[in-house]
Amino acid sequence: MKAKISGLATYVPPRLLRNSDLEKLVDTNNEWILDRTGIEERHVVDKGTATSDLAAEAVKKLLKEKELSPDEIDLIIVATVTPDMLFPSTACLVQHKIGAHKTWGFDLSAACSGFVYALSTGAQFVHSGMHRRVIVIGADVMSSVINYSDRTTCVLFGDGAGAVLLEPCEEGEGIIDFVHEIDGSGGAFLNMPAGGSLNPATHETVEKKMHYVHQQGQQVFKYAVKKMGEYSQRVLERNNIPFDSVDCFIAHQANLRIINATAERLGLSDDKVIRNIHKYGNTTAATIPLAMEDAIKLNKLKKGNILLLAAVGAGYTVGSVVLRWSF
Ligand SMILES: CC(C)(COP(=O)(O)OP(=O)(O)OC[C@H]1O[C@@H](n2cnc3c(N)ncnc32)[C@H](O)[C@@H]1OP(=O)(O)O)[C@@H](O)C(=O)NCCC(=O)NCCS
Repeated sequence: MKAKISGLATYVPPRLLRNSDLEKLVDTNNEWILDRTGIEERHVVDKGTATSDLAAEAVKKLLKEKELSPDEIDLIIVATVTPDMLFPSTACLVQHKIGAHKTWGFDLSAACSGFVYALSTGAQFVHSGMHRRVIVIGADVMSSVINYSDRTTCVLFGDGAGAVLLEPCEEGEGIIDFVHEIDGSGGAFLNMPAGGSLNPATHETVEKKMHYVHQQGQQVFKYAVKKMGEYSQRVLERNNIPFDSVDCFIAHQANLRIINATAERLGLSDDKVIRNIHKYGNTTAATIPLAMEDAIKLNKLKKGNILLLAAVGAGYTVGSVVLRWSF
């Protein structure tokens, strides 16, 4: 039994945070942001909206499009690094918000590789024959962990959610393979130091701004370019898929220069590469489903196409998935 993506829906909060808005908050300018990242604007939540709200909106749309009742879902996996709270899991909150009564689920923490990790994980439950309908969600409210007085991080991130439905399919269709790796030596370069068991919240952790994203951008940049290329190559080679058979390439949208450098390394022609970072920024676990949706709208992702996904995230986490698109 194989698993295919049989449906997709996304949701972003309506409020826009443009480069011109950030110019008023920190010492930056539109030209620098566009030139160094490719980002023009991002969507951010209003106070009181959490990751489970964005995720639930995406799932409701998905169920409507697929004409499914919430009770037909067997499993919900939520990839996120910005859960509503440490516990209960965001999966539980989403389950309750959509009114699914015959399901189970859990959160998966792999930062920007979250969606590809959750996709590979969800697929195993379909492969094994254990479940017929698995919902995989990538959702993050990065604005909740961003220090809007730090110009090196606040220009990069946005909020959003995407959900896909996994169902069984025939051999030769759907998810073909994945390769993933974690490398904890990268933990120092991208993290949120406080709020966990190591540094529980105190006045001091708040004063030291330890509840925000801390990043050494250049280290992450170099690692991302190297690994996204390497793992994409690996997953194609071990499945004997020639590079020119890839119809569509979706890399995690962290920086336009990372996407372009990876595509160049892989020798992929420009028209096959999906780029939508200009309108969303880095939405962490949501970038890949948001890019899938744009790829479909642009007619760059069609039924039967070979789709290659690649991501690198905090951890470090690395992942690449190859699949045959199914609708
Ligand atoms: C963060 C990132 C955009 C920075 O770009 P960069 O080209 O590496 O820039 P640097 O960090 O070398 O900074 C260059 C200069 O720009 C300045 N700068 C940083 N942010 C700025 C901003 N928003 N506006 C204006 N100047 C800025 C720096 O202070 C530095 O100034 P200096 O030379 O006077 O010290 C880039 O490193 C990156 O995208 N990294 C990967 C991030 C990522 O993908 N994270 C998510 C996990 S996958």
